[in-house]
Amino acid sequence: MSTNDAERAPFPGHPGAARRVSDLLPVFPWDKLEPYKATALAHPDGLCDFSVGTPVDPVPELIQKALAAATDTPGYPTVWGPLELREAVAGWLRRRCGAEIGPAGVLPTIGSKELVAWLPGQLGLGPGDQVAYPRLAYPTYEVGARLCGATPVEYQDVDELDGTRVRLLWLNSPSNPTGRVLSADQLRRAVAWAREHRVLLVSDECYLELGWEAEPVSVLHPEVCGGSHEGLLAVHSLSKRSNLAGYRASFVAGDPVVVRELLEIRKHGGMIVPAPVQAATIAALGDDAHVAEQRTRYAARRAALRAALEGYGFRIEHSEASLYLWATRDESCWDTVAALAELGILVAPGDFYGPAGERFVRVAFTATDERVAAAVGRLRR
Ligand SMILES: Cc1ncc(COP(=O)(O)O)c(C=O)c1O
Repeated sequence: MSTNDAERAPFPGHPGAARRVSDLLPVFPWDKLEPYKATALAHPDGLCDFSVGTPVDPVPELIQKALAAATDTPGYPTVWGPLELREAVAGWLRRRCGAEIGPAGVLPTIGSKELVAWLPGQLGLGPGDQVAYPRLAYPTYEVGARLCGATPVEYQDVDELDGTRVRLLWLNSPSNPTGRVLSADQLRRAVAWAREHRVLLVSDECYLELGWEAEPVSVLHPEVCGGSHEGLLAVHSLSKRSNLAGYRASFVAGDPVVVRELLEIRKHGGMIVPAPVQAATIAALGDDAHVAEQRTRYAARRAALRAALEGYGFRIEHSEASLYLWATRDESCWDTVAALAELGILVAPGDFYGPAGERFVRVAFTATDERVAAAVGRLRR
């Protein structure tokens, strides 16, 4: 390499390059958990991993069959998918959310995380715009703001926000990480605030079918939105309800004008759900029996873990829905993570979801019955 080479600008993407996008993003927090995972893994009876909300039970057979039957699809699928897919989504929204929405108001996405991360940029937000999300939240809302150069803003109550600067307002009910459910009245208030300020309200409802002590309501329900979907989107995923995290099956629904705009952009960007996954999504949305079956599994795991954690001295807050118990011993979350790792139990520290979570841990009850029973035994001893 000559001296000149050393002085030349780095390649885009190389360290030191101007505007390297990863420099705008928060540090990926999960690496911080690695030492605790190593401790937990060393437990003689093995690791009980409750740190990630990833399904572990089989993909329901009817969904596997639909995927398998659609493997011979050599041509390009469309971003919008076949009418049958959009009608399956509309049918599910009618049945499970009480929302009347035509096929023009729905769009398949490649897992909802992808949409959460890229939505602000796809809607043209950028420097000077604010993207607001709950004080304790799934970290990708912040990432989505940063990826497009917008300003991420946390809120506890929408009234605290500056309606002249916020362009996109995230709601998440049931919440990750707290499992909290917003009432129809709280949702109505957020909708009224967003409409008053012409802010797009996007409600992440991927745990909607996982209410335990509360009945989650969609922002698209007429009692919340007044029968109009203008300025509203709801984000849904099949990852949790149908054990389909591996398929990347999800959709967004709501304001048909915004949906059409997203469709245009995503067509140019080639953001296409694979045809076999589109077929699997149709089958999954047409069936509620597998969801009921999966809910029964989760309910038992949740009850067992909750009782064992409370018996061990934890207090559980919220957690009325979703796949998580939001637990505290009124100490630093990292002390709790360390203590549980000694028992071979791995949980997520609450500060992964915002500084307000720093005295809580998030316990995902997505492990097998056998692992849940093992953890319960250790907590009881
Ligand atoms: C609140 C919330 N939104 C979105 C997602 C992303 O789900 P997926 O990309 O699997 O659809 C998750 C995953 O855990 C989540 O907790």
